[in-house]
Amino acid sequence: MRRTRLHTLRTTSDAETERYGAALGARITRGLAVCLTGPLGAGKTVLVRGICRGMGVTGDIVSPTFILMEMMRGSRMEVAHIDLYRLEHERELEEIGVFDMLGGDTVVLAEWGDRSPALLESADVVIHIEPGADGDRSITVEADTAAAMQLGDVAW
Ligand SMILES: Nc1ncnc2c1ncn2[C@@H]1O[C@H](COP(=O)(O)OP(=O)(O)OP(=O)(O)O)[C@@H](O)[C@H]1O
Ligand SMILES: [Mg+2]
Repeated sequence: MRRTRLHTLRTTSDAETERYGAALGARITRGLAVCLTGPLGAGKTVLVRGICRGMGVTGDIVSPTFILMEMMRGSRMEVAHIDLYRLEHERELEEIGVFDMLGGDTVVLAEWGDRSPALLESADVVIHIEPGADGDRSITVEADTAAAMQLGDVAW
């Protein structure tokens, strides 16, 4: 999928990253596949937590490390939180039906999304988090045209 850079921003705390995520989540109005990339401890889960909050998910949002995928219900849409850190073969993703969800009504949020070339290729949005010194994080968002229109110029 063709994507272009929507924006790059900097956060200086986990609370700020979560707040940015919530602003993004509040703008999501249809099923999108979002791949989150960046090293261990970059803040992918923090950002996912924010996006989920912005979509109206209540309850705990933690990395589904041992079960690969956790389904949650937002106020408007269903959210699938995926963590591919331990993915050994893309077949596992196929087996849990991830590829069938694409293009539907479910918002797919995939941490370590780059561990599946097929998922990365079909993602509407790719968010890369690059840690700097201390609490600094540089967050770059790439989106395809339709997703970019939906997310717009996120105010947060
Ligand atoms: N600006 C920031 N944004 C996000 N997290 C931050 C920031 N500054 C510090 N942190 C800390 O960095 C850690 C990010 O953890 P998180 O679990 O979200 O990372 P992750 O990318 O999901 O890691 P993993 O690859 O293990 O899944 C937290 O402990 C958080 O408090
Ligand atoms: Mg994580």
